[in-house]
Amino acid sequence: MKEKLLKLKEEIISKLAEVKDSKNLKDLEEKYFSRKSEFNDILKNIKDLNDDLKKEFGQLANNVKLELFKSLSEIKSKIENKENPKGDVDPTLPADKAEFGHLHPITQIRNEIESLFSSMGFMVLDGPELESDYYNFTALNFAPHHPAREMQDTFFVDIKNKDNQYDMVMRTHTSPVQIRAMKKYGAPLSAIMPGRCFRNEATDARHEHTFYQVEGIMIGENISFAHLKGVLELVGKKLYGKNTKLRMRPKYYPFVEPGSNGEYTCFLCAGKGCRVCKHTGWLEILGCGMIHPEVLKNGGIDSEKYSGFAFGFGLDRLVMLKYNIDDTRLFNSGDLRFLKQF
Ligand code: DAH
Repeated sequence: MKEKLLKLKEEIISKLAEVKDSKNLKDLEEKYFSRKSEFNDILKNIKDLNDDLKKEFGQLANNVKLELFKSLSEIKSKIENKENPKGDVDPTLPADKAEFGHLHPITQIRNEIESLFSSMGFMVLDGPELESDYYNFTALNFAPHHPAREMQDTFFVDIKNKDNQYDMVMRTHTSPVQIRAMKKYGAPLSAIMPGRCFRNEATDARHEHTFYQVEGIMIGENISFAHLKGVLELVGKKLYGKNTKLRMRPKYYPFVEPGSNGEYTCFLCAGKGCRVCKHTGWLEILGCGMIHPEVLKNGGIDSEKYSGFAFGFGLDRLVMLKYNIDDTRLFNSGDLRFLKQF
């Protein structure tokens, strides 16, 4: 009996050492420690021994029992800790409040502009941020030695084209998507193309290396400067209120002819002159014009049959003016004290 008990003890100890999870442990408890277990049978038989043996064996059995229950409870707490680690958590504390984010102010204005143009039947298109020199400059009628193409002037990328030239550039404006859209959809075509652009700027409060633009085009038979003016007037009223006026003055861009800027009456002083509009009463918001026939041709469109207008503006500048933000670098700063204000 003594031998049987000691053998059983060894068996139980080695089985306990192998326990992996609470299910495992429960099965072992059932097998070795329940009323119907072999161990319990041995304990029960002690009462039938003679007094001397009862004393000797009883003491041994008791020691074995204590030892086994001790290691059982050690294993139990080990498994519990593993399965429900407590750490320093106080379960009575209220849970953390889930914090909801919101759209970036540039995204908010972009959404407004997209819905305005969608309601006028414009498509909203996307283009690659890494562009070829061809789409970013050549197809848009930039002269071969235009300074904007200088390696040091913007972010050219270390990838050679099939003619062994460094040809890839982080797009400097959204205008290349004009050509992509013309090639893909042909005429007639109305689309806006919002997106991120990059320039090698020595950044300051008004210049950032990464910024957003919205490009727009409308191409069809007999599309004229009057259509351009009509659409831009609507945009101004939507952005700055119904009394907003548009002023257009000639400006050179290689991809339009004639080219123009677009200025709106200052929303802050209603045209009287203030700090925001540098006392002119006008805010220069965009560039625009009639698409150059060469550009239409590069987009695969017959410039004898079709004409079109194009415009482009910086989204960052719109948001800065709307909220009186004085440093463009705040947009990409990730500073929640700034972002939470919108
Ligand atoms: N791409 C020009 C820029 O980044 C903006 C622009 C001017 C776009 C005139 C146009 C346009 O479509 O017609 O400065």
